[in-house]
Amino acid sequence: MKTLIEFIHQKQCEIPYATGEFTQLINDLTIAAKIVNRELTKAGLTDILGESGESNVQGEVQKKLDVFADQHFIKALKNGGQCCAIVSEELDEPVIFDDEFSMKGKYVVAIDPLDGSSNIEVNVPVGSIFSVYQRISPVGTRATIEDLLQPGVEQHAAGYITYGSSTMLVYTTGKGVNGFTYDPSVGLFLLSHPDMKIPEYGAMYSINEANYIYFPEGVKKYINYCQEHDKSTNRPYSTRYIGSLVADFHRNMIRGGIYIYPGTEKNPDGKLRLLYECNPVGFIAEQAGGKATDGFKRILEIKPKSLHQRVPFFTGSVLMVDKAMEFMSLFLENSGRPKGIYCDYCRKPQEQQ
Ligand code: AHG
Ligand code: MN
Ligand code: MN
Repeated sequence: MKTLIEFIHQKQCEIPYATGEFTQLINDLTIAAKIVNRELTKAGLTDILGESGESNVQGEVQKKLDVFADQHFIKALKNGGQCCAIVSEELDEPVIFDDEFSMKGKYVVAIDPLDGSSNIEVNVPVGSIFSVYQRISPVGTRATIEDLLQPGVEQHAAGYITYGSSTMLVYTTGKGVNGFTYDPSVGLFLLSHPDMKIPEYGAMYSINEANYIYFPEGVKKYINYCQEHDKSTNRPYSTRYIGSLVADFHRNMIRGGIYIYPGTEKNPDGKLRLLYECNPVGFIAEQAGGKATDGFKRILEIKPKSLHQRVPFFTGSVLMVDKAMEFMSLFLENSGRPKGIYCDYCRKPQEQQ
């Protein structure tokens, strides 16, 4: 069995002038992941469940484990010295290191330290998501916001950890996707899912359907399509919605399926965050042969305007995402309104929002 670090070393040896800095960065992320995993597995026994008493920048109530995971990822990245700046879901402002050691780091990282944390009390899988960029600013100086606001196409690496029936790390550096299962008896991530591919077609759709009445017409029509009977396309599909992006995406990665968190009239940009949810998951989806869009265009090409920016998210099996996008466009064309004047997601004139 190959360990994660052996695997990365081997890949790095294939790149001339590789320095091992990236190996160190991944190693740092796995240290935090192992600590989070340890806390999660005994969460019901210790005083770590429940709310922290604070809210994050999005106004969401923070769980104690959100804060715990956030602190450990930041600590591990700081100790490793390869990372000069971090944007985290749990912190309003970015962490920009100003000590000499960290300013020499050539990477910046965006993290969702604990994804699906509202599920912790009920033992449903949760995750961690990370996105890694090379800094634009000169090594040795203080990193800037521009280092963190790069479009997803510039990602150097991205990954997630799913803390489920087993704990797995899935990551890409732009040359395919590989999955590693954690063996707690030896404390190592071992290569268990080499060269992962998302089936191009599946039979599951994942969306919070309770919000149906608020969805744009294209999404409503696509849901109706998923529920129609058609033997040749295995419809009606099944609904599977855990409410943890990582867990829902991971299932679709293996089985095939589509995950949608659309914009609505009230929240035209949806709920999920571009930098530390949609970009990393989108990069993995594409590298596994799947697709990730906002319903109209490629997620990875969006130039971020702010650190905690949200974006509608359609990802998973390529043929399913294409079909959902077809409905989104059809709806727009049917509206007979010129694109750009009306909001792509909610039909409201832009000036009224
Ligand atoms: P987080 O716990 O990091 O805030 O993310 C929660 C996200 C995502 O994991 C999940 O798919 C989605 O919120 C669920 O939202 P709804 O409860 O609105 O369906
Ligand atoms: Mn999340
Ligand atoms: Mn989170």
